[in-house]
Amino acid sequence: MWEKYFISGLILIIVLTTLALTNSLNYQDSYNINSLKYSAHHERAEKIQQAVFPLLRQNASVDNVRISFPVISGVKTNTDYLLVCYYRWQGEGSQMLQPSKINTTLCTHIIVGFALVKNNTLVPADPSDIHGYELVTGLKKTVPNLKVMLSVGGGGGAKGISPSVSTSQNRAKLISSIISLLSKCNFDGIDIDWEFPVWDGSSLEDKKNFILFLRDLRNAINSERKNYRNKPLLLSVAVAAVLPIMRASYDIPSLAKYVDFINLMSYDYHDFTWYLPFTGHNSPLYKRKDEFGYFATLNTAWSAEEWVKKGMPRSKIMVGIPTYAHTYILATPYIHGFNAPAVGGGEMTYDEACNFVKNGAVRVFDKESQVPYAYKNRTWVGYDDLESVTAKVKWIKSRGFGGVMTFDLNCDDWNSVCDKALPFPLHRRMYELLKT
Ligand SMILES: *[C@@H]1O[C@H](CO)[C@@H](O)[C@H](O)[C@H]1NC(C)=O
Ligand SMILES: *[C@@H]1O[C@H](CO)[C@@H](O)[C@H](O)[C@H]1NC(C)=O
Ligand SMILES: *[C@@H]1O[C@H](CO)[C@@H](O)[C@H](O)[C@H]1NC(C)=O
Ligand SMILES: *[C@@H]1O[C@H](CO)[C@@H](O)[C@H](O)[C@H]1NC(C)=O
Repeated sequence: MWEKYFISGLILIIVLTTLALTNSLNYQDSYNINSLKYSAHHERAEKIQQAVFPLLRQNASVDNVRISFPVISGVKTNTDYLLVCYYRWQGEGSQMLQPSKINTTLCTHIIVGFALVKNNTLVPADPSDIHGYELVTGLKKTVPNLKVMLSVGGGGGAKGISPSVSTSQNRAKLISSIISLLSKCNFDGIDIDWEFPVWDGSSLEDKKNFILFLRDLRNAINSERKNYRNKPLLLSVAVAAVLPIMRASYDIPSLAKYVDFINLMSYDYHDFTWYLPFTGHNSPLYKRKDEFGYFATLNTAWSAEEWVKKGMPRSKIMVGIPTYAHTYILATPYIHGFNAPAVGGGEMTYDEACNFVKNGAVRVFDKESQVPYAYKNRTWVGYDDLESVTAKVKWIKSRGFGGVMTFDLNCDDWNSVCDKALPFPLHRRMYELLKT
């Protein structure tokens, strides 16, 4: 009996998908969903979506996933939270956020991205980027407490890293190039955004080599401090938020020994792929009741607590909040909740999502996951706004984490395009909540 329903269901799905796909070829999205013109988010998001495969193969591990959080005592009462803001240098031009427009009050740390590793040497992605780096570190002249760090890697920029940490000679060469580029441009530290060790065909030795590299780098920072500076350079690592990558890529207790802090990339939990063609939120705070197994782990709260369980001190975890969003093209405008069938995807910045709602999209704030989504016609976006950012920062404080990481300054409404009020509304809200 059930076979009959199953087969009819299957046929219905095939027909709908075919219709939708044909349709989507003609669907012109007026909100220009690929406007970030920046494939790095998408590259990372794709790798993260692929994380579903190993878990589906070994379903036992899904059952092992625990979703309860421990009661914590002694949540810190001081207000020294960090607000670590990523900034992508995209070159000069009024369309791009320029360093002079960054409100330096809002961030305790600015991490500039992204440098690359070539031939075991840290290099700017383009030689002209040095100028951009110096503009950002120049901001310290007026704000002496501000820390500016350089990030290496980023979504799609990991290529040269694996071989450069594989032998002690290579590591030594990379480390000396790191220290010399940092001093040349007056940076306060380095952020390693390797996406991801051991992942995606990279070497199985990566996990071990990554730790050896961080150990050597920490030693070099300590002796460099004795030789040249009285303040040690800062060392942070941007890390994955999903379980399969957490397990494959990081020896977390060792990582914890060497880093000043980690930047938890608690976003890209859902993105359109052909094998998961359903709407889902970029960065939910909590799980929803209808999410089970692995899917119940795809949220900020779960990831941050899992990093603690696996050995990272709370005070070293900067919990990520995105200012960009993933979008979907709905198969039909009439099904527009979570898990709605989709035929394509893209990205929006916060100001685009804000304007999308201003121009008539329906905004729904999901009480369970504490994040909004919005839809209009066949465009669907799961984004972060003032309400979700507020919920997240309050949660981060209540759980005693070290602070917040944002990705990134560029995707906030830095030019007051939507709010017409003060620029950087999302960062401003986070700053205000963290300082009180
Ligand atoms: C998958 O789960 C089912 C039901 O819990 C179990 O019988 C089966 O052995 C599991 N498969 C693997 C590979 O663990
Ligand atoms: C920077 O942010 C602070 C804190 O919200 C605010 O008081 C200040 O006016 C902002 N500066 C500019 C130039 O917008
Ligand atoms: C790599 O570095 C070595 C030693 O610093 C140098 O001799 C060699 O020419 C470099 N190779 C490339 C392709 O830049
Ligand atoms: C939805 O978008 C399509 C394609 O842009 C357009 O033809 C159609 O009129 C739109 N429908 C509504 C209700 O706006």
